[in-house]
Amino acid sequence: MSEKNNFSVSEKEILEQKEFTEKVFALNQEFFDKNGYQRLAYIKSYGCQGNVADGEKLKGMAANMGFGFTDTADNADFVLYNTCAVRENAEDRIYGNVGALKHYKRRNPDMIIGLCGCMMQQPHIVEKLKKSFPYVDMIFGTHVLHKMPEIVYEAYTSGKRVFETPQSKGVIVEDLPVRRDGKIKAWVPIMYGCNNFCTYCIVPYVRGRERSRKSEDIINEIKALIKDGYKEITLLGQNVNSYGKGLEEEINFSKLLRRINDLDGDFRIRFMTSHPKDASKELIDTIAECRKVCKHIHLPVQSGSDRILKLMNRHYTRADYLKLISYAKEKIPEASFTTDIIVGFPNETREDFEATLSLIKQVEYDSMFSFIYSKRVGTKAAEMVDTTSDEDKGRWFRELLEVQKEIGINRYNRYVGKTVKVLVDGEGKSGKEYLTGRTDNFIIVDFIGDKSLIGSFVNVKITKALNWALLGEII
Ligand code: 5AD
Ligand code: SF4
Repeated sequence: MSEKNNFSVSEKEILEQKEFTEKVFALNQEFFDKNGYQRLAYIKSYGCQGNVADGEKLKGMAANMGFGFTDTADNADFVLYNTCAVRENAEDRIYGNVGALKHYKRRNPDMIIGLCGCMMQQPHIVEKLKKSFPYVDMIFGTHVLHKMPEIVYEAYTSGKRVFETPQSKGVIVEDLPVRRDGKIKAWVPIMYGCNNFCTYCIVPYVRGRERSRKSEDIINEIKALIKDGYKEITLLGQNVNSYGKGLEEEINFSKLLRRINDLDGDFRIRFMTSHPKDASKELIDTIAECRKVCKHIHLPVQSGSDRILKLMNRHYTRADYLKLISYAKEKIPEASFTTDIIVGFPNETREDFEATLSLIKQVEYDSMFSFIYSKRVGTKAAEMVDTTSDEDKGRWFRELLEVQKEIGINRYNRYVGKTVKVLVDGEGKSGKEYLTGRTDNFIIVDFIGDKSLIGSFVNVKITKALNWALLGEII
């Protein structure tokens, strides 16, 4: 393992967790000897890819503790929900799903139930969960994910409920076991946390300060993935463009991309998410010049109105954003763009919303993730008086989807007749013999082909554009 930085946890703490892993393993072995079957874990992650990547570590730790796996909660002996706090509907799903566990636990009193992830970093939510769901055995926050072995051991042996949700600037723990969900595409966090404090966003409060992994640790992880046959590596961070700040080495995100691009092997590189305030010309040039870096730029704009951008604390203007996009279009003519939009920020007016509509028409995104603003306790925006009606917000949201649908169809139609390179992911939705995959530009392509192609790159000639995907034929 490489030298320490100040977010690293101590060697001692890591050793302690290894001991707890062995202790839980012994408990699970004892259970197996007595009952003749292995305890099964159901670990489900909600929210962003960063949370999914955390979930793969939780699964890695659970596997080392001697759990098998199941993909439903009803036959699990250990249920763990790795939660998301970004919007209210993500939280509501958790309340619903935890409620449903009550009768499973009545049927199987040996079952342990745990909750972790972003929701657990909010004291008012933890209080509510503790009270409403007395059958939840353990609750732990994002900063103690690596202590799961100890927490599970306590849950099994102490006879008490375990709560561990410290506030912290955050940690970096290298070398946790990972049990990846797939064999073709892999998630690699390059940094954790966020320092931006966009006024609507809960992330800085639940994920701690921005901190980067050392490039050596990232490169070693990616080399191992390539050796294992992974074909797509997605680099993760809340704001990958500020990668490297605070590290002792001389590095930034563009340099990291170039180093990964130089690794041997047939694979491609994606990344998310870029913050427009830090996305530089250097980054665009790097994407243009690195053959393995996908020509797809996800650049969340959130709003097209300067007034709203300012209230959101985004640190760029509409003009700055459009300038960057036009530089990218000039440098990488084949590039595709996607974005995130929030509709209904406090006091958004029709005029503000129209500025967003005109921006999306100007950029011509391939696709977009759009959300109605959701008030998050503890954020600055939650304190703003909001006079915009829910009715207006809902209407504008639907209008936005309609406008984007039209733009997306036009974009997709441009591919008809062209040949694109697709990484085959699995079986397609368009029919029985169909396979599916994504282009470099992040567009879904369905085509007829043999299942043996799953996991390889193929060239597909596009014959038709649907509004969610392209159809084509292998050539
Ligand atoms: N309400 C609605 N959408 C939000 N997002 C983040 N916070 C909120 C919120 N409070 C959206 C942003 C971000 C994406 C991941 O989620 O668009 O880019
Ligand atoms: Fe959800 Fe944000 Fe946490 Fe990701 S970091 S799981 S989006 S709250």
